[in-house]
Amino acid sequence: MNIRKILKNIFHEFNQQDITKPQTAKEYLDKEIEELPIINDLKFVNIDDCMRCLEKIPGILDCLEGFTLFLLSMTAPGNNSIVEVGSYLGRSAAYMALGSIVSGKKGIYAIDMFPRKEDWYWGTDGYYHIRGSDYYLENNVFKERENFFYGDRFYDSTLEIFTDIIKKVGLERHIEPFKGTSVDYSQLHKIPLRMAFIDGDHTYDGVKKDVFALSDMIVENGYLCFHDYSNSFPGVVRAVDELVIKSDNYRDIYLVKSLLIAKKKNVTNNISP
Ligand SMILES: C[S@@+](CC[C@H](N)C(=O)[O-])C[C@H]1O[C@@H](n2cnc3c(N)ncnc32)[C@H](O)[C@@H]1O
Repeated sequence: MNIRKILKNIFHEFNQQDITKPQTAKEYLDKEIEELPIINDLKFVNIDDCMRCLEKIPGILDCLEGFTLFLLSMTAPGNNSIVEVGSYLGRSAAYMALGSIVSGKKGIYAIDMFPRKEDWYWGTDGYYHIRGSDYYLENNVFKERENFFYGDRFYDSTLEIFTDIIKKVGLERHIEPFKGTSVDYSQLHKIPLRMAFIDGDHTYDGVKKDVFALSDMIVENGYLCFHDYSNSFPGVVRAVDELVIKSDNYRDIYLVKSLLIAKKKNVTNNISP
């Protein structure tokens, strides 16, 4: 190969890299996120259009799982709030907020550590962790997210990205973020819940802490739901098996993909409204 060809190849590769430069959250949000078409001109809610809009919110939750969360938030008993643990950039919270709007019910408290770049550290176990949680990410996943969240330095923490997404979708009156853990939240708020959705720290101890913090607040026939009840997350499976499936406090267990749903039985230690 002559020198001209080598230079041409190098130049071509350089250009290719430039074209495939990974997107940052700001770029993605500007291009892809749109306002939820809640009421159209004919004065009815087009759920199809709403679902297409919510699918654009970054996240791992599958659309059938999202649709199920939407239905559960509509049908969960009473008009108490919903709490979710592990909000990330707002995808699951948005599905539940849509269900709350359609049914005229109270909205969502969205709990997350909402990390800044400096809250992440490389652990001796070879994974990236968030300070204050056992949550972990593999190196390649962390690198991808690091660029997406903080790559252009537009956002300082995922709370800002979350807030911008929820505002742009038009759900800011229905979702209230809470920075911290379920334990921090439960020390400040003791309110009855029609539903709790757990998708934060996926370790055995992490899930146990979330269940202990929230379970007593769920009203009779209210729902306790978990994401990632699957072989990929043995900590989630073990904690849910022990604390929910084998417990006398829950009945009517359903699984939709990796979303596990349990109904609270009539137990005496509920918080009164
Ligand atoms: C799998 S993501 C949640 C995905 C989200 N539910 C969705 O639909 O896109 C897990 C989230 O849990 C948060 N997290 C990790 N440990 C936590 C903890 N102990 N308490 C609260 N949030 C936590 C992380 O910051 C991350 O945003």
